Amino acid sequence: MPEIRFFPKFVNVKNVRNFQAMIEALMMSAGEGRLAAVIGPAGRGKTRTAQWYAANNRCAFVRCLSIWRGSELGFLQALGRELGVKKVAHRKDPAFLAVMDALNAQGGRPVFIEEIEKLPRLHLELVRDLSDLSAAPFVLVGEDELQSHMQQVTRIWNRTFQLLEFEALGVGDVVMFAREAAGLDLPTDVAELLHGQAGGCFRVIKRDLISLVNIMNARGKSEPDLGMVKVAIKQSLRG
Ligand SMILES: Nc1ncnc2c1ncn2[C@@H]1O[C@H](COP(=O)(O)OP(=O)(O)OP(=O)(O)O)[C@@H](O)[C@H]1O
Ligand SMILES: [Mg+2]
Repeated sequence: MPEIRFFPKFVNVKNVRNFQAMIEALMMSAGEGRLAAVIGPAGRGKTRTAQWYAANNRCAFVRCLSIWRGSELGFLQALGRELGVKKVAHRKDPAFLAVMDALNAQGGRPVFIEEIEKLPRLHLELVRDLSDLSAAPFVLVGEDELQSHMQQVTRIWNRTFQLLEFEALGVGDVVMFAREAAGLDLPTDVAELLHGQAGGCFRVIKRDLISLVNIMNARGKSEPDLGMVKVAIKQSLRG
């Protein structure tokens, strides 16, 4: 029996389709500073989806670091690097101007900023200024706290044109993921059990599916059944 292989493929699940529709809607209001927020509990695929979109559309993607708490310079330098700024500025003003020039040169592509809710509000205000002055759309990606962080700054919330919440994964998403990542056609009971145990979390589904593939290979089976899924779930929870 040929071995079943798992590939960490990117799959076009419902949240991904919603994400693409949201970006399209955001782009329709070109010409003014505007923001979007993507929120949702851990493990639902927010980061992977934003990175996938950014990589395929040559967009900047910056994940905020806690060490930038004390100053906006590190944030501006990282954003500049992502936007292709060659010369690193060591003071805030020139770093800001370099980012502005790069934003103006890149023709309105969205910029993705992740986990800005970990930083003080000053960083959010900076994003607002950059977006206002360059008219580039910024998409902020984070956990649910991101929304209240943005709402605390009226002039940020006022410019937020789109809010997308990543939903719990559906059974259809699980079936699609198993087919595309492992070439497995899951029977309905197996898909429902995997789905029911994961609480909508992509990370858990992925872990369980990898365990299931390992068990099937160890037992030389080409069709998964409920018994194997139960073992897989137990194993990956322990691991
Ligand atoms: N569309 C997808 N296709 C394939 N794998 C995916 C997809 N979306 C997410 N994953 C996988 O699911 C896991 C969790 O995704 P990700 O880290 O993007 O979640 P998150 O919502 O950003 O979570 P956190 O809030 O913990 O940062 C990762 O292993 C990722 O590779
Ligand atoms: Mg993430």
